[in-house]
Amino acid sequence: MKNVLVVTYSQSGQLNSIIDNVLKALTGKVNIHREYLKPKPEFSFPWKDIRFWDAMPECVEMVPSKLETLDFDISIDYDLIILGYPIWFLSPPIPLTTFLKSPQAKKAMNGKPVVTIIGSRNMWVGAQEDVKGMVMENGAQLVGNISLHDRHHNLPSVVTIIYWMTTGKKDRLWGIFPKPGISDKDIEEADRFGPPILNSLQNNSFEGLQDNLLKLKSVEIVPSVLSIERKGKKIFKIWSKFIRKKGEPGNPARKARLKMFKWYLLFVIFIVSPIVTFFFYLTYPLFFSKINKQLVYYKGVKPKN
Ligand SMILES: Cc1cc2nc3c(=O)[nH]c(=O)nc-3n(C[C@H](O)[C@H](O)[C@H](O)COP(=O)(O)O)c2cc1C
Repeated sequence: MKNVLVVTYSQSGQLNSIIDNVLKALTGKVNIHREYLKPKPEFSFPWKDIRFWDAMPECVEMVPSKLETLDFDISIDYDLIILGYPIWFLSPPIPLTTFLKSPQAKKAMNGKPVVTIIGSRNMWVGAQEDVKGMVMENGAQLVGNISLHDRHHNLPSVVTIIYWMTTGKKDRLWGIFPKPGISDKDIEEADRFGPPILNSLQNNSFEGLQDNLLKLKSVEIVPSVLSIERKGKKIFKIWSKFIRKKGEPGNPARKARLKMFKWYLLFVIFIVSPIVTFFFYLTYPLFFSKINKQLVYYKGVKPKN
């Protein structure tokens, strides 16, 4: 039987539900080894206000932290590695970065095909570029990507994700906002991605896997959201360096700069981004071909030349 290593990190369990559904088609047909990453200490969920913002600089700078001992058998020659992760501050979450930068990951991943499965609000492409880089550094090859996101409009989804992340409640805020996160329907229907993955495993060829996944709508990108995210990622890098000058996570000296970042981000999301989106669509025809090229690139799994 083939061996598949599935490494995931999920706080609420949303990402794990997606993974469970994708794995349905593989269950009983291959050996599935699951590694649930456990940060040491755990990031509390629901999040406490300042701790939430305090995670930003190390996510963006991809500074590894600590994990509980990894359980998976490093001596197995895995046929496929599946990495499942949410997005934190347009970046990979710290536990995944920590895993990908560990010697165990390097050993297990070297020369192996990798499929990534992402469960985010709606801004994930920059984080996936970071993950692509770490996957390559470990000598592995990205062969497939599935990215599910909250389909609601960008602004209400910011309100609902903050509500969910800071209260732990995945219900409709005041009965008027949509339910936070990825829809139950999208989570359930993630089982459609399992058969092409199983097929590639059984045929010993991952050539064309991403095209097969894309036919099943494994990745959908809203152009205006992509445009905002690309700008945001550059600005986050400036903020993360600025905050890290005041010390490591938990250092009270960072607090003032974290608060500045928080208010800056909320201002940009609710005031600036609607204006930017308006101009984005106004000038869309002028940049049509450039934007189309970006969409094709981010839907694929090839690294940047
Ligand atoms: C600290 C933090 C930052 C986040 N930043 C983003 C982000 O930049 N882009 C995004 O699409 N989602 C973001 N999210 C939402 C996550 O991608 C994800 O949807 C949510 O955390 C639920 O994932 P779970 O499976 O870990 O429960 C963030 C969540 C947290 C906790």
